[in-house]
Amino acid sequence: MSLSPQNPRTLPAWEKLERCFEDAKEKTLSSWFKDPQRTEKLTFAVGDFSIDLSKNLIDPDITKVFAELANQASIPERASAMVRGEEINSTEGRAVLHTFLRAPRGMQSGVMAGGINAIEEIQKVLERMYSFAREVRSGKIRMEGGKKVKAVVNIGIGGSDLGPEMVYGALQNKSDGAVQARFVSNIDPSSFIEAVKGLDPASTLFLVASKSFGTQETLSNALEAKRWLLKGLGEKNLLDSEKEAVARHFVGICSMEKEGKAEEFGIRPENIFEMFPFVGGRYSVDSSVGLSLVLSLGPDIFERFLEGMRAIDEYFFSTSAEENAIIQMAMLNIWYTDFFKAETHVILPYNDYLRKLPDYLQQLTMESNGKRVNLNGKEVELSTGEIYWGGVGTNSQHSFFQLLHQGTHLIPADFIAFANNSNQLEGGQEEMQERLLSNFIAQTAALAFGTEEGTQEEKRCPGNRPSTSIFGRTLSAYTLGELIAIYEHIVFCQGVVWGINSFDQFGVELGKKLSQKVFSLLSDTESNLAQVDSSTRRLIEWYWEHRS
Ligand code: F6P
Repeated sequence: MSLSPQNPRTLPAWEKLERCFEDAKEKTLSSWFKDPQRTEKLTFAVGDFSIDLSKNLIDPDITKVFAELANQASIPERASAMVRGEEINSTEGRAVLHTFLRAPRGMQSGVMAGGINAIEEIQKVLERMYSFAREVRSGKIRMEGGKKVKAVVNIGIGGSDLGPEMVYGALQNKSDGAVQARFVSNIDPSSFIEAVKGLDPASTLFLVASKSFGTQETLSNALEAKRWLLKGLGEKNLLDSEKEAVARHFVGICSMEKEGKAEEFGIRPENIFEMFPFVGGRYSVDSSVGLSLVLSLGPDIFERFLEGMRAIDEYFFSTSAEENAIIQMAMLNIWYTDFFKAETHVILPYNDYLRKLPDYLQQLTMESNGKRVNLNGKEVELSTGEIYWGGVGTNSQHSFFQLLHQGTHLIPADFIAFANNSNQLEGGQEEMQERLLSNFIAQTAALAFGTEEGTQEEKRCPGNRPSTSIFGRTLSAYTLGELIAIYEHIVFCQGVVWGINSFDQFGVELGKKLSQKVFSLLSDTESNLAQVDSSTRRLIEWYWEHRS
């Protein structure tokens, strides 16, 4: 099928939406809620979640036009093209097969990508991950000096860090504690220093996760890990051979094209786990990038996580646009971005274990849809890619909610909560859980309906501020998998309507190149700064003057 994007503005449904908008912008949620059926009509059951869209600036008729837009923009056809292995990541000439990472075992899709049978190869890697994890966790695989692995340190950044760190944070209470996971990403030396604090080098396994095995932050941290390990083992008289120690204590997670680099680093070929070119970094938490999770939480929990994602894939691919909450949420995002001119979108998990979810979603959404040209390389005419941000409730109620309630910006909000706490509660903890959920529910009502008529202006909350409530039963590996897959597909649908490539990320390259250039200037006080702009020059000189 042709990958040529249509201009969404020329679609009949877009014109219809323009008319709907003229009407909708004059309405309020209070008036819309006079329809007693509204919540029922706008609430969707998606896997283990109930997703309530009723506090959004839409009515059920608008969702029908959303469905028309999705169909006219060919979302179903593009979704099929994706799973047929077409190279929908056209700028990089790659298929986009992250949904294959959680395909049922033994499924035969026949899809070949880059010359390999994608599902077969993915599942081989998964089996290797599981058996490696079993051997590490049982103590069959041991570290230099014979100790069992007690901690794994994942060294990676972006997609090679945010997903596993977020998932580990969310599910850490499910771990049997045999192997803890730590994460180091930033090139700031403090990041590494803190990540290994209190760890015994003799029982620490490092996972160097980098698809390119060339990212400067990851390589610098990996070298630092090597230095820390060899020094630590040396101090304990456990170091017979540096080569052997590195081979035992390091695992590589990278694309096979870069396997040579991992081997050069000292990693054994049998300890290298493949990342596939047809899975983007920000879509890779359920790939070998999740090895830190398999090692720390165990294969069974990881398997449940994959099952949750798979359940959502099945829902997404088989549900009509009108009934499909994922498509509706994606169209809502476009509605707010291009009609209401909202620029940001806030993510509010009412669950402390999901602290890292906003960070994770920032990369997923903004690296995917922060694009200024369409699939034909022509500048887009519409706004794309909202700015995602957020924080946990209730903490954020006491920091930025003031602006949500009374500020001048329109900020669609996703409220996420679970009926049951992840822990067994006792005594007053049950009341705490209910208070948490009361806040989750009350805040969406406060945003939607505001204060009563006649309230003094300074105290008045005008209401009419949109939110979506995503309510699950219990946070588990399965439901977390569901939640992540929901957002992955939302991003995809928005990208299709906007006619952009959600799967490349060329924008991050320029800064990387410039930092190399500045690095070579910084390290030499004799550098000729005439070639750089005056601000860069001043910053470098200030650094030279003040470094100790
Ligand atoms: O710089 C952006 C990026 O390429 C992300 O897309 C990616 O997730 C991250 O860097 C890490 O890349 P790698 O896994 O190759 O180290």
